[in-house]
Amino acid sequence: KPCILFGVPVQDGAGRMGCDMGPSAFRTAGLITELSGLGYNVEDRGNIVPTPPRELSHPNSAIRALPEIVAWTEAIAEAAYRASGEGIPIFMGGDHSLSAGSMTGLARRAATEGREFFVLWLDSHPDFHTLETTTSGNLHGVPMAYATGRDGFSGYFPNVDVPVKPENVCMMGIRSVDPAERTALATTGVTVHDMRSIDENGVGPLLDGFLKRVAAVDGILHVSLDVDFLDPGIAPGVGTSVPGGATFREAHLIMEMLHDSGLVRSLDLVELNPFLDERGRTALLMVDLASSLMGRRVLDRPTQSYRHT
Ligand code: ARG
Ligand code: MN
Ligand code: MN
Ligand code: MN
Repeated sequence: KPCILFGVPVQDGAGRMGCDMGPSAFRTAGLITELSGLGYNVEDRGNIVPTPPRELSHPNSAIRALPEIVAWTEAIAEAAYRASGEGIPIFMGGDHSLSAGSMTGLARRAATEGREFFVLWLDSHPDFHTLETTTSGNLHGVPMAYATGRDGFSGYFPNVDVPVKPENVCMMGIRSVDPAERTALATTGVTVHDMRSIDENGVGPLLDGFLKRVAAVDGILHVSLDVDFLDPGIAPGVGTSVPGGATFREAHLIMEMLHDSGLVRSLDLVELNPFLDERGRTALLMVDLASSLMGRRVLDRPTQSYRHT
């Protein structure tokens, strides 16, 4: 299957500027060459252009850039739906609000194919605010609530035809949760492996359990990788870093297991802020991780099979 790359230079969902340079940094860091080197037919379709924003206001006056993010979501969802019918779309962000579009577009694709849809969310944050509960007003904090069909988005964001089932979402690396998100997460059925759980169990067994669930129903898997999932010591190029993140080795193991599973259908690379990076090291690390997810390996070895039987 071809790899279809999209730049998504959205930054209005984040609290600080700079994510609009993310797609350029991914290209500069060699993502296309890496993927081509793995044998993929890579198509860079350039940057997504949002639909023209229309006037919209919400009673929660903290919310920032609602018309812009809604416009991005429409365009991204459409691109995600279409490209996922042709190959493996990779969304080079851009802030995490882009996942409102990628997840809903992919969920629609899965429904078209009659397949069950799953999301692996690698992030220090659950991004599970609704338009009512966000206090920062930064809309990169809402995509998971939107895609899972929580109340309060209709009339603002595009209607979600096919909501992502909360019980099909697995979050790993979580370590910064606002009170309203914590309350909501407790009752929704989303699997949340916070950093404590990772320390107690290891990323391998936790991910293995989730991949088995995906494979058992022959599901398709979308992976959303937020730079702040990683420890700030190895990934400084992000506006919302939180101490105590995933290590280089944990992150690579996850990517390698994902590749071996053969279940991944699409990928978001989000929140890279090149203005905050150090000589491109975060961009290079993200490209490295994407290559591992797409099949780069150190040795040939027998792989655990997750294939549906
Ligand atoms: N929960 C915080 C907020 O709503 C942080 C969200 C950070 N999200 C992200 N995609 N980096 O503002
Ligand atoms: Mn995020
Ligand atoms: Mn985050
Ligand atoms: Mn590797």
